[in-house]
Amino acid sequence: AFRNKLEFFAAAKISSSFPPPDLPEIAFAGRSNVGKSSLLNALTRQWGVVRTSDKPGLTQSINFFNLGPKLCMVDLPGYGFAYAKEEVKEAWEELVKEYVMTRVGLKRVCLLIDTKWGMKPRDLELIDLMERYETKYQIVLTKTDLVFPIDVARRAMQIEENLKAKKSAVQPLMMVSSKTGAGIRSLRTVLANVARF
Ligand code: GTP
Ligand code: MG
Repeated sequence: AFRNKLEFFAAAKISSSFPPPDLPEIAFAGRSNVGKSSLLNALTRQWGVVRTSDKPGLTQSINFFNLGPKLCMVDLPGYGFAYAKEEVKEAWEELVKEYVMTRVGLKRVCLLIDTKWGMKPRDLELIDLMERYETKYQIVLTKTDLVFPIDVARRAMQIEENLKAKKSAVQPLMMVSSKTGAGIRSLRTVLANVARF
């Protein structure tokens, strides 16, 4: 499963350059700097294939990675960093919308939320989009190592409350730290079931 080799496959800045949807896909979405690329690395134990950075907004295209012959992992560009211009926001929206609308193999979107900061308006916009297109998504709280356990639990409860009325949200919410490895194994198990491989 997650022992397979992670290989960069394609990058797309417009929907016409999406690769053919031959494999089941799991996508990772969330604000810039929330830890998407780090989580991909931690899940696959393959550091360096997916670039991570202190500078928000590094990943501006949708990046497709093959994890062995049967699964595609997708790193979606981060949103919402303060200095993003309006045109950047619109281009991002268009790209991610096209992605969510058209990918027939998309099995699950992991929506990453920074445990310390919680959900922001742009996260809720993405949730609305996924609800509209009936895309199954799952919340993953990230960087739990930076917050006291009691605050992780509080944040989790608050978000679960918010998601009660949502149809496409898959429970339970997951909590991870790519730094310490906490929660990574559980998330791997969940995602392996999603992909059924
Ligand atoms: P964009 O590509 O800009 O959208 O960011 P991203 O969501 O891919 O974030 P990335 O994985 O590049 O991580 C951003 C920063 O957060 C880096 O400095 C990481 O080292 C740090 N980081 C990621 N995960 C964790 C974590 O679990 N704990 C801590 N303490 N830092 C983390
Ligand atoms: Mg990234």
